[in-house]
Amino acid sequence: MGIDYSQKIPNNVDLSSDRQLQRALEKWQPHFIDWWKEMGPEGFQQKDVYLRTATSVDAKGWASYGMVQMPEYRWGIFLADQVEDRRIGFGDHMGEPVWQQVPGEHRSDLRRLIVTQGDTEPASVEQQRLLGTNCPSLYDMRNLFQVNVEEGRHLWAMVYLLQAYFGRDGREEAEELLVRHSGDVNNPRILSTFNEPIDDWMSFFSFTYFTDRDGKFQLKMLAESAFDPLSRTCRFMLTEEAHHMFVGETGLGRVIKRACEVMNELKTDDPARVRDHGAIDLPLVQKYLNFWYSSSLDLFGADKSTNAAAYFATGIKGRPDEDKFEDHVEADTEYAIEEPDADGKGIHQLKVPTRNAMNLIARRGYSKDCEIGLTRWNRAIKKAGIDFELTLPSERFRRSVGPFADFAMNPQGQPISRDEYDKNIYDWIPSPSDKAFVKSLMRQVVEPGKMAGWLAPPDRGINNQPVDYEYVRL
Ligand SMILES: [Fe+2]
Ligand SMILES: [Fe+2]
Repeated sequence: MGIDYSQKIPNNVDLSSDRQLQRALEKWQPHFIDWWKEMGPEGFQQKDVYLRTATSVDAKGWASYGMVQMPEYRWGIFLADQVEDRRIGFGDHMGEPVWQQVPGEHRSDLRRLIVTQGDTEPASVEQQRLLGTNCPSLYDMRNLFQVNVEEGRHLWAMVYLLQAYFGRDGREEAEELLVRHSGDVNNPRILSTFNEPIDDWMSFFSFTYFTDRDGKFQLKMLAESAFDPLSRTCRFMLTEEAHHMFVGETGLGRVIKRACEVMNELKTDDPARVRDHGAIDLPLVQKYLNFWYSSSLDLFGADKSTNAAAYFATGIKGRPDEDKFEDHVEADTEYAIEEPDADGKGIHQLKVPTRNAMNLIARRGYSKDCEIGLTRWNRAIKKAGIDFELTLPSERFRRSVGPFADFAMNPQGQPISRDEYDKNIYDWIPSPSDKAFVKSLMRQVVEPGKMAGWLAPPDRGINNQPVDYEYVRL
């Protein structure tokens, strides 16, 4: 079904046939715009930005590009096409028809999942609101704003579900999503990672690489849901999400490329000299990977979870790419997980019902997906003739959730003493002085085609435009 842009709220759900819902959403719309103007990108609301807008939900040619002022962006409700006779693909109800309405017994679980997902979307816009003021190029500024408007669109996606399927509670939750704010002491966002400001571009690229990828995996799991409207919503969100990870992967890739160029130019592998030359040294890139990977792993929840088991059993939430698994029921199967010994000095394995390990299974898929970028970056480093390899730290390193939470582990995943951990932590994650150095590089570059000195230009522009296209008219 095509998207109807003649309506106040663009949509492909035939919104005008449900007057009550249409009225509720049209009442929410100005609140959203007020939120965007107040909490969205600071300083660029009246500028023309070269943005893509969804025009259909087809895999091919689904978007058009043009100059838009962000508050005029056509945020709307777009669901992937309904799959005819879709059946539940896993759990105790495998093979039964999917649900077009919310079953009463799953109402509060589904609402919680949708609210939690919905909360992260505007949270990231709030976290990133100052990044336009120190962007490394116009091209990057445009990509930032593209990510931001699409996170706003993802909020619309969740608010539609709340308003359409959860009655009065849903309407209240929709309002609350605009009232909580990232970092607000009295009314913070739900997940702690989404309450830290992202005010430098190394953090932004790391966030889009690691944290948006967690988002991708959450969406993949919800795309399996027996609640069909949720599944269809998430399937289309995944199409948009791919660009966010592209921004992260190519952003970090360009930082790495620039570091290699400087190392070769100066014929040095001394990080201090690379920094003197205004580039970000590879060991510092590694510290950013260690920090963001470990905090993103926490977003998957506990390795052993009765909630996750229940979601799988009932059909609310599946595994990412459920059809790639052999057994879709996992009734009596077991899965090996690991835990630290009580004294913290060793690690042992134990078996738990597979259903209880769903978070861990999803997280393992995520880790594999994270490796793809590293392989590309390492290939580029090797090609530049430099002997350095970026790695992901152990999944036990620096965790706040799961069995290794609050156990001192080094990036190789070996138990160490708390003293040793504290002494070495800033060899592993960015130290205050590393962060101060990165901050010192963050100066706005806005001449079309020009790049800050700490990253290489992109290989190509957006939508076949040249790299020096005026992506934002200032
Ligand atoms: Fe999103
Ligand atoms: Fe995203």
